[in-house]
Amino acid sequence: MQTTKEIIKLKDITVSSDGEQVLSGLDLNISDGEFVTLLGPSGCGKTTTLRIIGGFVTPDSGSVFFDGKDMAKLPPYKRPVNTIFQRYALFPHLNVQDNVAFGMRVQGKKKTEIRETVDRMLKLVNLVGFNERRIDTLSGGQQQRVAIARALANNPRVLLLDEPLAALDLKLRKDMQAELKNIQKSLGITFIYVTHDQEEALSMSDTVVVMDAGRIQQIGTPQDIYNEPKNAFVADFIGESNILDGIMHEDYLVEFFGRKFPCLDTGFDKDEPVDVVIRPEDIDIVPANQGHLTGTVTAVTFKGVHFETIVDFKGFKWMIQTTDYYPVDSIIGIVLNPEDIHIMKKSEYSDMFGDYSSYSDEFDELGNPEVDLTEDTAAEVEE
Ligand SMILES: Nc1ncnc2c1ncn2[C@@H]1O[C@H](COP(=O)(O)OP(=O)(O)OP(=O)(O)O)[C@@H](O)[C@H]1O
Ligand SMILES: [Mg+2]
Repeated sequence: MQTTKEIIKLKDITVSSDGEQVLSGLDLNISDGEFVTLLGPSGCGKTTTLRIIGGFVTPDSGSVFFDGKDMAKLPPYKRPVNTIFQRYALFPHLNVQDNVAFGMRVQGKKKTEIRETVDRMLKLVNLVGFNERRIDTLSGGQQQRVAIARALANNPRVLLLDEPLAALDLKLRKDMQAELKNIQKSLGITFIYVTHDQEEALSMSDTVVVMDAGRIQQIGTPQDIYNEPKNAFVADFIGESNILDGIMHEDYLVEFFGRKFPCLDTGFDKDEPVDVVIRPEDIDIVPANQGHLTGTVTAVTFKGVHFETIVDFKGFKWMIQTTDYYPVDSIIGIVLNPEDIHIMKKSEYSDMFGDYSSYSDEFDELGNPEVDLTEDTAAEVEE
């Protein structure tokens, strides 16, 4: 159950090491009971952000608040958070129940309470009867569950999880994703979860925080992040994207590839240069003479659910995901509906992502498409 009460606030956090900015002006508000995921490529500062919340790293500047109180002076063990580290860091010389009980023993809890909690936690993570097992006899997934049980046994209000499933195979990871999500929901604990797996982030989180190079690029619901990426980095990092240069002539009208297309976006300057994102699964393939654009299939890969089809539009290669098979050298048309076109502001990431070959000089010559649009489709475009 999500509430709007704020539990953690990071304000203008800056961290540098050896003259390199690790985090630059990071602001983040997290609500009580929220599942927040920090998502970004290796080295973008995800673990550092968690370590600041946990109290293991002191920022150069900026503040961390918990329930509105500044945590600067609070050492890690006094913070109401628990961490599952990037490597699980279980105690190999202790058995399962002693690992899970560790924090409670340190706190001087009563034996009966400890035993009762250990059993409850092992049940929660599906490890009933594993109490006496040595850590080195457990599989990776089982060790992961012990790490989760150990963290939850301390009854934290906030759990920090640093790539907890990275070491697991795909199938087990999917199962554990569902289990973790259930645990989070049923206990109502705030989860701050780190991953560089975009699918994991989208499927588990209430809120996704996309980071790159020590900065937050976008904060939003999984749907927001996917459907309305703020810039080319986010569009590229969250799933596959075709990203093109465009000109936003006026509200609801964008031009790219020498053609004007109706879209749903507003609020840009007149004739503002923009980045245009088109998701591979949103493109409809039609016979060449009915397309808004015409191209030639250059590669097809079977992906199980769909074919990943690369189509060359005079040197600019798009990815199209379709359940229909078009062999290499097929000439196809594509139709783009207004809701399939997403407009983004130009950014430092423009031109870095989003084509499936390299940019080509021929791109500039696309003003005159080979195939004339029929009256009907032309009317559709102008609508
Ligand atoms: N203790 C440290 N001393 C010096 N540099 C550090 C230290 N910790 C992290 N860094 C640097 O800060 C940057 C961010 O590191 P961080 O561990 O937060 O990245 P990450 O997003 O968790 O990456 P990954 O996905 O690889 O775990 C990296 O460039 C890293 O080399
Ligand atoms: Mg990390």
